[in-house]
Amino acid sequence: MDIQPIVAARWGGRMRQDIRFLLNGQPQRVSHAAGDLTLLGWLREQPHLRGTKQGCGEGDCGACTVALGRLDQSGQLVWSPINACILFLPMIDGAAIRTVEGLAAADGQLHPVQEAMVAADAAQCGFCTPGFVMSLFVAWQNRHGLGQDTIDDTLAGNLCRCTGYRAIVTAALALAVSNAQSSTDRLDTAEAAALADLCAGDDHDDDLFVEQGATGFYAPTTTASFADYYAENPDTVIVAGATDVGLWVTKQHKTLSQLLWTGRVSQFNRLERDGDRLFIGPAVTHQRFADAIDADLPELAELMRRFGAQQVRSTGTICGNIANASPIGDLPPALIAIGSVVELTRQGAVRRLDLEDFFIAYGQQDRKSGEFVSGIYMLAEPAPYLRCYKISKRFDQDISAVMLAANLDIVDGVIEAPKLAFGGMAAIPKRAAAAESELTGKPVEITTFQRAARALEDDFTPLSDMRGSAAYRMATAQNLLVKYGLDLSEGQKFRLAGAGLADIMERW
Ligand code: FAD
Ligand code: FES
Ligand code: FES
Repeated sequence: MDIQPIVAARWGGRMRQDIRFLLNGQPQRVSHAAGDLTLLGWLREQPHLRGTKQGCGEGDCGACTVALGRLDQSGQLVWSPINACILFLPMIDGAAIRTVEGLAAADGQLHPVQEAMVAADAAQCGFCTPGFVMSLFVAWQNRHGLGQDTIDDTLAGNLCRCTGYRAIVTAALALAVSNAQSSTDRLDTAEAAALADLCAGDDHDDDLFVEQGATGFYAPTTTASFADYYAENPDTVIVAGATDVGLWVTKQHKTLSQLLWTGRVSQFNRLERDGDRLFIGPAVTHQRFADAIDADLPELAELMRRFGAQQVRSTGTICGNIANASPIGDLPPALIAIGSVVELTRQGAVRRLDLEDFFIAYGQQDRKSGEFVSGIYMLAEPAPYLRCYKISKRFDQDISAVMLAANLDIVDGVIEAPKLAFGGMAAIPKRAAAAESELTGKPVEITTFQRAARALEDDFTPLSDMRGSAAYRMATAQNLLVKYGLDLSEGQKFRLAGAGLADIMERW
């Protein structure tokens, strides 16, 4: 369906029909792009821009990593690494994009990141190298992520299949030293000014619509336009960060007729305290959220550190992780464990419900036609007994086989109000009612948690699939609950990384 006339007629026609961005410092305007054209698909059709590679085409390997820069509220350019293979082209409107071709100076002088990679002999196959260079470039420009303690996070989304990480890490550590010594950067100053110019046009803040062939992409700028349009066109696919929807196109080869983007509605970017609650709008990315909760909720922050990798966290959203109806999403159990509420909007009508009641059955949520997730309210107070345990086949950049998010109060040594929310154990993220009742009113002793672990057999009948057998899932869930008990009763933290790892290393 051609939505342009519908949108224009309904909302007065103030609509821009070209995508504007900077590519390696040069302003670009693209009109007549298919709404589901990926940034990588577009880049690789441009002359002399084949440095950005396609590997997996599903956000996993990082070969397609490019840097996306946006101005923050103080006018500073902030860079993020993104997977160009699953990002739709219109989503870069108003941004600066740097690809590996845009790093060296006009006179051929390599960027410090490229020089460090050459000096450390860090390019082996060459195919994955542009992606590594771009992740390091983002860390260099943002002045964070090149040290010994942060480099794993910086590179978790870039796979080197020939195990050549040592040389790449050597390059990064050398960069950390020179980065600390360098002052202003030739790219950022010019790029920030050019981006401010690009975004200064009269029509910059108009709604954006592009289409070609079968697929249109509509990016309204107000909540009302978004809500009205979705209420009248409920079959439209909402897209937030596209870290799921992008794969429907690249892996499932679906043709999506219309996409409706959350990313240009300024209200959707709200991430703010509302009393004792934190409100998370539909366009808030995992990375912004992780930065905001880092100090008060370190257990949740540790889970966020393992959510995909930086490329996924830079674009993927919290609301997308709730709305995608996955039984193994990481955030539903964690948010349920701290008593979160989901907000749903259909035109002017807003309703709120406990997040745990939002999930009804496999792939089914309590969401009416034309209703969208307009925010999440989560408890913003510190939760000293919150723990999030994620079990996946790979430590970084993987989806859980089993996930336990547990929280409770302890009053006079007795457990009150336990919330044990599991992912991967049922068709939906689900609380363990029988195990919770075993904990309630009992002392914080390991035997209490062992009894509760046995009660999990009354709560769940897990399925077998490629991530784990039913028996594995049950045994893992029970062990996680015992682990929680050891943590609370004996202060034993078992962690493979982060602060808990230091505890274990000390004991050994
Ligand atoms: P999108 O892809 O834009 O949308 C997802 C779904 O939600 C779509 O059906 C869309 O229509 C719908 N939707 C989005 N926003 C709204 C809204 N406001 N209202 C109604 N519907 C909406 N997930 C994990 O849980 N843990 C991981 O560690 C993890 N790692 C990943 C690693 C990789 C490499 C990739 C590609 C994905 C990973 N994911 C992971 C899955 C995905 O990143 C997350 O589920 C993410 O939060 C989805 O958010 P998004 O903004 O990208 O959603
Ligand atoms: Fe593998 Fe994009 S091609 S992440
Ligand atoms: Fe490319 Fe290892 S250097 S896969």
